[in-house]
Amino acid sequence: MEPRRLGPSSSVRGASSAFSSRPGSSARGQDGALAEVLETRALEADAAYRSPKVAVAVLAALAALCLAPLSPSVRAALHLPWRDVVSLLSPVAAAYGFATLLHRRLGAAAPAYRAFDLVESMAWLASASALVVRSGSAESVFWLLHFAWIATRVWGRARARDLGLLCCACGGAVVAFALRGRGDQAVLAIGASGLVLVVWAMQQAWARRLAEVERDRAGTQVLVVERKVQSERGRLARDLHDGVGAELSALVWRARALQDEVADETTRAELDRFIDRVRLGTDELRSIVWSLRAPTEAWDDTVAYLRARCLELAGDEVEIAVEDRGAPSTMKLSGELRMQLVRIVQEAVRNAVRHARCDLVRVTLAADREIRATIADDGRGIPELALAESQGGLANIRERARRCGGEASIRSSDEGTTIEVRLPLPKRRPDRSTEPRKAS
Ligand SMILES: Nc1ncnc2c1ncn2[C@@H]1O[C@H](COP(=O)(O)OP(=O)(O)OP(=O)(O)O)[C@@H](O)[C@H]1O
Ligand SMILES: [Mg+2]
Repeated sequence: MEPRRLGPSSSVRGASSAFSSRPGSSARGQDGALAEVLETRALEADAAYRSPKVAVAVLAALAALCLAPLSPSVRAALHLPWRDVVSLLSPVAAAYGFATLLHRRLGAAAPAYRAFDLVESMAWLASASALVVRSGSAESVFWLLHFAWIATRVWGRARARDLGLLCCACGGAVVAFALRGRGDQAVLAIGASGLVLVVWAMQQAWARRLAEVERDRAGTQVLVVERKVQSERGRLARDLHDGVGAELSALVWRARALQDEVADETTRAELDRFIDRVRLGTDELRSIVWSLRAPTEAWDDTVAYLRARCLELAGDEVEIAVEDRGAPSTMKLSGELRMQLVRIVQEAVRNAVRHARCDLVRVTLAADREIRATIADDGRGIPELALAESQGGLANIRERARRCGGEASIRSSDEGTTIEVRLPLPKRRPDRSTEPRKAS
């Protein structure tokens, strides 16, 4: 029979050339990692700020500030009676206490907590500015309350909102002095406000720098671990290939030699079966070695490997067409999933070649949220009982798909057999740069 194989160029809608790598996506990934570090640090800082120990310390400090003007010398330095201090600081203490309570009860993500966190900030900054203005001097020590508040925002979460609050509070003090006809104090207040804003900007830059360092360190650690894993996989692949693989080849040679020496037909047939089994074992070993060595987890590499395997399995007797319908450009396959897919497709093609007496086997591969593989032959179909009673490859196909969280459906008639397999991809964090790609 004339071999009628469809080569990759004729029947396969190869896709790799159509999908170029996307410049900028790694920069986006870096920014995403940075935002993640900043967000995590902000949450940690927030949790520390709302911890019982810090809460007691903050409330004690506010109480001490309220009581300090009872001392005449402090009162003279602050230029304020204690009643003014108490009336302006008690809303701050109440807002802080309530926000802390909400944080501990409802958690940092609760809308009620977020709302009260904002109320607390507004109360804090407004009171600080009001105390400065009431003291009558823009050189008041109450500016320190602005710096204390900046310290509580150490990781700069909700930066734009907080900067807005800060500007309003500082601007309010300047305007209040100006409206009271205290131009000299208004000018001083502008200077103090500038200082507050500079400290804010420095703290933001510092937080960002620390986050960048942390992100880079984490990235380096991941790279080191990945290299170690890759080198260990390489060692395993070499050992399997050169050790177990060489032994299996020697077994086949030895069985062939025995076949030549034996005249008995039954023994020769038995040796044929033995050689077939060893070949199956060698095939399995080769897929494991490939899986260990595969430098990337890319879809295209898996398809290329499967195409080569299908052509090998089909031999010269059966025509085979492998079609790649494409996958998202950033999709990666885990070693486990890749291995299961290879074994499933391999077994279905092997069955078609061995049992179906078919002319053509069509393999179609596609992936988006799940991997879909269809293997269809135009052969004589699976005998009814064989399908129900299989304890070999067919049963394994179903079991493998089930273990991956997917399913395999097998349809068969006297016009052929179609096996459809769906393997869901493990959920990953969404990458905004992911775009579906289509084979040309
Ligand atoms: N594509 C097919 N076309 C026709 N018959 C098939 C096809 N696939 C399987 N069969 C039938 O179903 C039976 C069971 O297949 P299964 O893959 O489970 O076992 P096997 O191929 O006989 O052995 P093993 O896979 O364990 O080496 C086969 O013996 C064969 O009769
Ligand atoms: Mg089989």
